[in-house]
Amino acid sequence: MIFEGGRELFSFDPSVSYLNHGSFGAVAVPVREAHRGFLDEADRNPMRFARRLPDRLDEVRARLAGYVQADPARSALVVNATAATATVLHTLFPVVRPEHEILTTDHAYDAVITALDRFAARTGVRVRVVHIPLEAGDDEVLERIVAGVRPGVTRLAIVDHIAAATAKLFPIARIAARLRAEGVPLLVDAAHVPGMLDTDVEGIGADFWTGNFHKWAFAPRGTALLTVAPQWVDRIEPLVVSHADPDGFPRSIEHQGTRDVTAWLAAPAGLDLLESLGPDRVRAYAVDVAEYAQRLLAEKIGADRPFPGDGVSMRVVRLPGPPGAGTNFWAALRARIGEELGVEVNVNPWEDGGLLRVSGHIYVSGADAQRLADGLPGLLRSAGA
Ligand SMILES: Cc1ncc(COP(=O)(O)O)c(C=O)c1O
Repeated sequence: MIFEGGRELFSFDPSVSYLNHGSFGAVAVPVREAHRGFLDEADRNPMRFARRLPDRLDEVRARLAGYVQADPARSALVVNATAATATVLHTLFPVVRPEHEILTTDHAYDAVITALDRFAARTGVRVRVVHIPLEAGDDEVLERIVAGVRPGVTRLAIVDHIAAATAKLFPIARIAARLRAEGVPLLVDAAHVPGMLDTDVEGIGADFWTGNFHKWAFAPRGTALLTVAPQWVDRIEPLVVSHADPDGFPRSIEHQGTRDVTAWLAAPAGLDLLESLGPDRVRAYAVDVAEYAQRLLAEKIGADRPFPGDGVSMRVVRLPGPPGAGTNFWAALRARIGEELGVEVNVNPWEDGGLLRVSGHIYVSGADAQRLADGLPGLLRSAGA
């Protein structure tokens, strides 16, 4: 199983089998060259580069927003989903009281939970984390989230569209509609969505939406979008206040002195590359090779094969763990898989065991999956898992 020419588009160390696109993405060579071109241009005449930047950023913003069907006038370029989440929390800071709650699920990204915990410590707000079983169907997911709402008390919900550790696809449009009916503002964490799934940000109609373009939309690292509903445009608070503050959203969010934004400028080159490869072909292969890897692994270690949802090119298998195995145990196992097997994957704690996540992409072959499946049982035994 191979995507002809896929691996050659990237500059991986030849010895690595890279099945963890989901964590950091990987930058294709033509996109890196486009990025480098902007860095070179900036160095040739920093002043002229700065003069041209606002118009160029308008174009990039319009292109990325259009790609996910978001309104460019209500979208800002940001570095990543983490920064977008921090911006939303910063905006809510003055209106949140100790009697309020923020709702999320136990599939939320760990850095989001950490940000929420810190926000709770500063504001006194309570964070309510709703448990969603890995195998829950869409109706159950919706009902569990709605059951966690406390009318008049829940001031924000943060829900993933595709979760990080579990790869689970959430029925986000239905969740958004129900939370809107309940009067609960929603932040959609769509970190994995651009490039992986077609999406309609306007149609979802959440108060806040963020998506990374550096994971599945071929952009250089540090390229994401934050889209806000009309009622938030004048209320959004930049994390770093700089020259463009009087311009208001989105420039007030995007501009930070001399920060390097050349990655953003190269993001359209990423979308061009995806278009030239054929997005449907790329996605179908990524899903197939992820599913293939999951099946091989499940057969080797006797694990079940949770189905994340249609179109998701990340798959998980459950790993048994020694009693009390925590985050450090699973992080150490992930590192050993990388160092000893030469295969990069993600491993996270989940319930009383772990979840190993594989990501499919055009540079992943069936042989990469086989290498992982062949090496994992022995490594699990030696790790005491
Ligand atoms: C669901 C989810 N949310 C947020 C993030 C944070 O993205 P970033 O590290 O680009 O800020 C990730 C990253 O993996 C993620 O998977």
